[in-house]
Amino acid sequence: MNGPRKRVYVKSFGCQMNVYDARRMADTLAPEGYSETAAAEDADLVILNTCHIRDKAAEKVYSELGRVRRLKEAAAADGRRVVVAVAGCVAQAEGEEIIRRQSAVDVVVGPQSYHRLPDLLRRAARNEKAVDTEFPVDDKFAHLAAPSTAAIRARGASAFVTVQEGCDKFCTFCVVPYTRGAELSRPVRAIVAEAEHLAASGVREVSLIGQNVNAYHGEGPDGRPWSLARLLTRIAEIGGIERLRYTTSHPCDMSDDLIAAHRELTALMPQLHLPVQSGSDRILTAMNRRHSRADYLDLVRRLRQARPDLALTSDFIVGFPGETAADFNATLDLIEEVGFCGAFSFKYSPRPGTPGAEMDCQIDEDTKSQRLSRLQAAIERQQAAFNARCLHRSFDVLFERPGRHPGQIVGRSPYLQPVQVMAPASLIGEIATVNIVEIGSNSLFGVLASPAPARARESDRLAAGA
Ligand code: 5AD
Ligand code: SF4
Repeated sequence: MNGPRKRVYVKSFGCQMNVYDARRMADTLAPEGYSETAAAEDADLVILNTCHIRDKAAEKVYSELGRVRRLKEAAAADGRRVVVAVAGCVAQAEGEEIIRRQSAVDVVVGPQSYHRLPDLLRRAARNEKAVDTEFPVDDKFAHLAAPSTAAIRARGASAFVTVQEGCDKFCTFCVVPYTRGAELSRPVRAIVAEAEHLAASGVREVSLIGQNVNAYHGEGPDGRPWSLARLLTRIAEIGGIERLRYTTSHPCDMSDDLIAAHRELTALMPQLHLPVQSGSDRILTAMNRRHSRADYLDLVRRLRQARPDLALTSDFIVGFPGETAADFNATLDLIEEVGFCGAFSFKYSPRPGTPGAEMDCQIDEDTKSQRLSRLQAAIERQQAAFNARCLHRSFDVLFERPGRHPGQIVGRSPYLQPVQVMAPASLIGEIATVNIVEIGSNSLFGVLASPAPARARESDRLAAGA
């Protein structure tokens, strides 16, 4: 490390991939002398990690950049230089245009080039404007620095690991295949090494993430492509990793071995995010989803056969071009037929350059809003019913952080529900069994069922000076 310590503030928008990327950017900047700060006004480097999936994403970035510009000018008045970087999918889509429109920006870096950040910042330090939105052939993951043990501990016992990026599906509403590029899977060896490093630093739960994670086909140690199921099975063998998840999946890539993994792998949590987008075959075809309503329902049946307690979440888009009242009702029917424990739902937002944006019969804003609130009401009812069924059950909870009230800590159930418990803070980072005694609107409340695990008891004893 050279020079005095500098502070980096990263603001992430959008999906879990961006959360993971923000962490890896911070890890890569740590050896350059940067530590993370949560206060933008203290920062020497501000990174906006942007999302392009919906809405007027670029416009939002420019208005955010207006605020960052004022920070930069205030710092300059104090004789301090602030470097401004735009990363993520808007950076990829807009490139140099960002600097043309907002001259306070020094660096524009696309998601495939984060390993080159130190170099781009050196150019910015020489007052050059630095833009890198290439899709380099070298593996960025091989060049991104690993997090320190201290950074892993600060981030908690549940960690993301990106296993694949990009998407080859070309759903007609989606920009991902354009901004994140073709599907690319990381090799098994690199993922296992990363998971082992996390486990050695106290991580208990690993979520494998990717835009189309179940299309994973990375090279195995045997030189052959491994499926996601095989990768999950291998990671489950790592000592300390007690919980596994993966997201986001496409129904068409839900292979038989992955379905079987839900039966066979006890570490694989009984909650799956499986976007369906619509319940109408006509709209599914127009969206180029490559499966029918019946295919999805059959898939859900097979998954529940493998894992009867599996809880499903999904993504829905309302108001895709041409969506009639009958199409929308088919989506509501599908929701009733499946029974979800939660979902994300969105109004269709035309993305420039995607086929959907060019389609006739765009739906007006009012109809979209009405359909969205009806759909969300249906999902909220299902979520409340699911939570209500959890009363008096007992779950293993992975505790993550202090709770809202003194003496309380909060963790996640196997179904990802937040669970608030009065329990010693030494249990944070541990799994303990909890009896659910009350259902709140956003979380469950419970009491510890089992004696605290041995490791936590030991630290209690030490803390008590025994
Ligand atoms: N408009 C609305 N929602 C979209 N999504 C992706 N693209 C669009 C769009 N153009 C939603 C899909 C996807 C989730 C990540 O975002 O539901 O599954
Ligand atoms: Fe976008 Fe997902 Fe469709 Fe890929 S599978 S194009 S990421 S919605």
